[in-house]
Amino acid sequence: MNSPVSLAKQGDVAVISVDNPPVNALSQAVRAGLISCLLSAEQDDAIKAIVIHCHGRTFIAGADISEFGKPPLTPHLPEVLAKIDACAKPVVAALHGNVLGGGFEVALSCHYRLAVKGTKLGLPEVTLGLIPGAGGTQLLPRIAGVERALTMITSGKPALAESLVDCGVIDQLLEKSSTDDLLTQVISYAQELIKQNKGVRPTSQLDVGKTSYALDTFVKWRTKLSKKARGQQAPQCCIDSIENATLLPFKEGMLKERAMFVTCRDSSQSRAMRHAFFAERKAAKLPTPSADNPDLPALNIDAVAIIGAGTMGGGIAMCFAKAGISVKLLEMSEENLARGIKAIRERYNQALKRGLMTETQLENCMALIQGTCDYQDLTDVDLVVEAAFETMAVKQQIFSKLDEVCKADVILASNTSYLDINEIAKATNRANKVLGMHFFSPANIMKLLEVVRADATDEQTIKTVMALGKKIGKITVAVNVCYGFVGNRMYACYGREANLLLLEGASPEQIDNAMHKWGMAMGPLAVNDMSGIDIAYKARQENPNLPDDPAYFQAANLMVEAGRLGQKTGAGFYQYDKETGRRIADEKVLAIFHEQANSLNIRQRDDITDEEIQNRLIFALINEGANILSEGIATRASDIDVIWLNGYGFPRHLGGPMCYADEVGLDKVVATIKEYQQQLGDQYWQPAPLLLELISQNKKLI
Ligand code: 3HC
Repeated sequence: MNSPVSLAKQGDVAVISVDNPPVNALSQAVRAGLISCLLSAEQDDAIKAIVIHCHGRTFIAGADISEFGKPPLTPHLPEVLAKIDACAKPVVAALHGNVLGGGFEVALSCHYRLAVKGTKLGLPEVTLGLIPGAGGTQLLPRIAGVERALTMITSGKPALAESLVDCGVIDQLLEKSSTDDLLTQVISYAQELIKQNKGVRPTSQLDVGKTSYALDTFVKWRTKLSKKARGQQAPQCCIDSIENATLLPFKEGMLKERAMFVTCRDSSQSRAMRHAFFAERKAAKLPTPSADNPDLPALNIDAVAIIGAGTMGGGIAMCFAKAGISVKLLEMSEENLARGIKAIRERYNQALKRGLMTETQLENCMALIQGTCDYQDLTDVDLVVEAAFETMAVKQQIFSKLDEVCKADVILASNTSYLDINEIAKATNRANKVLGMHFFSPANIMKLLEVVRADATDEQTIKTVMALGKKIGKITVAVNVCYGFVGNRMYACYGREANLLLLEGASPEQIDNAMHKWGMAMGPLAVNDMSGIDIAYKARQENPNLPDDPAYFQAANLMVEAGRLGQKTGAGFYQYDKETGRRIADEKVLAIFHEQANSLNIRQRDDITDEEIQNRLIFALINEGANILSEGIATRASDIDVIWLNGYGFPRHLGGPMCYADEVGLDKVVATIKEYQQQLGDQYWQPAPLLLELISQNKKLI
């Protein structure tokens, strides 16, 4: 078999080239190839310096993640790095694209590093529940200092090559050019090294620089990350390992790093985070036969219209403008339009203040958004996203109007969170061009986009919108029609249990604290207060299939009926301090729930534990996820996880509800559901048939 690594000679410079598309990951063949080429170059007396470079769009973007979880194959990466570090001839890295993880570690072990401007370098292992496992925590502090290493390694965020010159990571920046040109420039650099008799510079022999960080640095970082990366073990291991670099000889630090890497790699947290990585990439691919059909390309979307300049419509407009797509924003009155556009500018201003965009970028985005109150201005757009009131009658009226004025091949999307897209499509004469684009609030920030395929939506329409989602930086998941689609239908089960527990005697803060402790970004009642309790209340009124249960979301209904809509009215499940906006527990709501429980004959208990809260909410989610899967509303179990990780604050280190169910064990999940069935009745608690089937076949969800 041909090796993905080859060796060529350019005078007295050896060029080791890696060619392992798509991202030159460090598979076993690449590791073996690097060692063998390095040895040949070292043994060749005519060779005085060595260059390592990569074909294609990027330098090595990391270890081959798909190899993790399988039996490890030799040679291991630290062996490759040790050979580079100890090489008797100077080794120069030619960097472009993404230099990540093991790829960055290879670069750090080279004696010199040159990078094309715009190259991204980083150690993203922590985002996969890992620590760098081939010397990242020992090499980076030796070159760039402890603080820089802590920042890069614990965040996992890549940095631009331009920002890594001062700290010594990059020796020279090169102008953007083709990879061939990069190679020519790096070979001349190597020749210059030979000419000037500049030799090797093993990173392992550099000193960490004891004065470059304060004594309490590591304590401070541990405290900071115990909050920021709550419940995750890898960030703390990263800190431990970087601290080792300051305390131990290089070889010992390396051995300890490897041991921690292996422990993390074999942990459920890393399995979950690696699952999330592949699940997000899989979700973007349509599982249909025509998905890769070149005769059915995604259409170009150069101009869009948004109907409704409220919070949602404004946020959606911002997403398109940020991606350079022009937007017509339609409102019913000049007054509403002016308010909507002002709010957009304010939101961009916040991004400017936080350093997320420049003034020029802000003005460019604003220039791309044009307001109108006239449907006739929408005749030329390629896509319309409707973000108006959540009632079927309003939506059908809008779609009928759009059908009348828009060009023949326009795509018409609704941002509805719950409603039946098939019914909306009936208001048009082009149901094949109608679908849902369900953004999450705040739409300019949240990564998730549910793309809802209605019965008549054609393949090209779905394909176009999936591609567009990627272009505007969203993680897109295709789903089918049902009330609430995947995310909100599951969320209704999760919220239902929180509401029932309130009537059974749990307090809002007990529920929120239990779920926060479990790992959710926020508790369900705090989320409800933030987004407005009236929104789901109104949606329930449009739900044709509400369960026959007077206790169903009764706690939330009572809040709305008492005028407690959440933060916007200063009170909801909690009270909010007028000055600071701080959340305060409110005895009054407990009294309301107590009274309601009495009238509904619900016994209030004082023995509700955190574990009961966590299990009831999470197992309700899992059970509904399994139903959604067997009904074909979601295509893959992993798609459900992607939705929960990116739209609902599900902790990434637990991988999403489906991955978590597999980790707990489906038999245990079903046993607990059956217990609730006994205790609470079977209106809500019946094990999903799919779970029973998978258990009987000894299979898992993922
Ligand atoms: N291993 C295996 N497959 C990988 C991979 C990796 N490190 N990185 C990317 N891929 C695959 C993707 O799954 C995808 O496959 P598919 O086409 O079959 O779905 C394909 O390569 C292209 O990836 P993207 O769709 O993500 O391409 P983009 O151009 O959008 O992004 C990227 C490129 C920025 C390199 C992105 O893929 C990425 O972030 N990759 C992961 C980088 C990473 O985490 N590296 C660290 C690995 S752990 C490590 O190195 C441990 C070491 O310390 C020992």
